[in-house]
Amino acid sequence: MNADSEKKAAAERALRHVEEGSVIGVGTGSTVDHFIAGLARMADRIEGAVSSSERSTAKLKAAGIRVLDLNATGDLPLYVDGADEVDPHKRLIKGGGGALTREKIVAAASRRFVCIVDRGKRVELLGRFPLPVEVIPMARSYVARQLVRLGGQPVWREGFVTDNGNWILDVHHLVITDPVGLERAIGEIAGVVCVGLFARRPADVVIAGDEES
Ligand code: A5P
Repeated sequence: MNADSEKKAAAERALRHVEEGSVIGVGTGSTVDHFIAGLARMADRIEGAVSSSERSTAKLKAAGIRVLDLNATGDLPLYVDGADEVDPHKRLIKGGGGALTREKIVAAASRRFVCIVDRGKRVELLGRFPLPVEVIPMARSYVARQLVRLGGQPVWREGFVTDNGNWILDVHHLVITDPVGLERAIGEIAGVVCVGLFARRPADVVIAGDEES
């Protein structure tokens, strides 16, 4: 199977976790696009979806799925999203598509997080993929200096604006031996909106291609 077939297989398998009549948290990215296409087939059997990005909102609406406000739904039974890297403890790097903040919010508000990926996303140690950090624009340079102190090499994703009106720094060359500690340390820097490490709230289930664990 090539990477896209593995993404599609993972997305199809994730549909088994969807309960009829429920509201589904929906992530962002090319793997989630396959999930939305599958969810479209059961649009009349779910209550709706809470979206993690403008991109997914447009795709959900086009698929005939009602998009609901998280403030109105309360906690969700299920969140389905992709990732850029997955370690053996189901801790993730996310945010390659720049939707990390809303993704982390919906993941936090969901009882079960099913992560769907192609097998190439599996790693022993997180950090080969540059770690996305969403920052308030005026803090870009300050945050970048603090990230250098933490051992990283931040690169501004120039020209990209998040759905929240902020900017992204992609941090290269981090050796992430303590994902929980690093998530906390970066999150505490003034001006950081969100760090794309999902370690304090990892995935509950990982589906890589047709392998579920
Ligand atoms: C979006 O901001 C990301 O967190 C995505 O979940 C991640 O980049 C995976 O994307 P693909 O499914 O396109 O590989």
